[in-house]
Amino acid sequence: MGTRGQTQVCVVEAGPAGLLLAHLLHREGVGVVVLEAKSRAYLETSPHRIRAGVMEWGTKEILVQAGLGEGLLKNGHEHQGIYLAHGGELHRIDFPSLAEGWRIWVYGQQYQVRDMIARFLEEGGEILFEREVVGLSDLETAPKVRFRTPDGEEGELEAEFVVGADGSHSRTRGFIPGLVLKEKNYPFAWLGILAETSPAADELIYASHPRGFALFSMRSKTLARNYLQVSPEENLEAWSEDRIWEELNVRLGGVARVQPGPLLEKSLTPHRAFVAEPMQHGRLFLVGDAAHVVPPTGAKGMNLAVADAVALFQALWAFYRKGEEEKLRRHTETCREHVWQGEFFSYWMTNLLHTQPDPFLEGLRQAELKQALASEALKRFLAENYTGRRTTGRWVGLWT
Ligand code: DHB
Repeated sequence: MGTRGQTQVCVVEAGPAGLLLAHLLHREGVGVVVLEAKSRAYLETSPHRIRAGVMEWGTKEILVQAGLGEGLLKNGHEHQGIYLAHGGELHRIDFPSLAEGWRIWVYGQQYQVRDMIARFLEEGGEILFEREVVGLSDLETAPKVRFRTPDGEEGELEAEFVVGADGSHSRTRGFIPGLVLKEKNYPFAWLGILAETSPAADELIYASHPRGFALFSMRSKTLARNYLQVSPEENLEAWSEDRIWEELNVRLGGVARVQPGPLLEKSLTPHRAFVAEPMQHGRLFLVGDAAHVVPPTGAKGMNLAVADAVALFQALWAFYRKGEEEKLRRHTETCREHVWQGEFFSYWMTNLLHTQPDPFLEGLRQAELKQALASEALKRFLAENYTGRRTTGRWVGLWT
């Protein structure tokens, strides 16, 4: 396409929410163009894009039903539970028995994005890489999307609808008048590593230790993904590889051991949360991180993004097939349901497992953790939310 063009739906950025929505619309014959600021190589290989690797059962089902499950089925793994480590003991949360058969699927988000890009392009979908969106106009009538290439060339796309799927630093969000950002900063960050070594256990271990929280996850049988709670002001340079492995083993409290292996990545992720409301204005609709961010504990980010994408697909499809606008009008209200459930669960799990700098809150946390490990009801609550059965799970099979 040259510097001018037209489409029915313009999706801003190729993350999980944008790509799923684009794929579903394209499959139904709706014209879609995805504008992506970065190059395809950057999306597929940059270590900065390494995200969580846990899919709720419903997310996995939705992706499979949408025809986007080939890679995840081949290279991902079903997990039937997680472990909580505390006081030198390992407590297993068994998902199927606590959440009526629901469980989780472990597959890295960046692999899923790579798979979705490949499938969308194979099926004739259009992604324009290295087109950074710089402005939106006429959102109430006939939207125009202005974009710029890395060498400064500008272009414009006319669309019937614009979807802001441009992540937590969303630019499209700025075009919603009266938008309110409800924010929460947590006094925690995660130092994350990806390493060539076997994972600490067959399932994820969430470890609460007096020195701080640690998480032992994985990408495969030979790739471990581990995290340490640190202060948001932490200096990454202060953490040598030896120190990281030592600290991971200390925080495991003897319930398992990790073997050091070559690091492929090391990063710092501060914990924060926000919900932007409303998620729409005129013919602009937000999905995923552009509208809401959760702290990483519980890995809800992509799952919420997928739920938003299915909800917006349903609304757009009702419009294109039946001329019905009601679902589009209610987009914010529809998504608010799962978004706040996701925020609440992420908040709960984060606070339950991280050592609190405030001594009073730390006392409460210890008390709550004791209750959680002894209570069937709290374990059921954890399992139902972790697997998504009670929240995003309602979108499975709801295409139209
Ligand atoms: C991973 C990240 C999370 O935030 C989480 O809760 C579980 C797993 C991960 O990167 O594998």
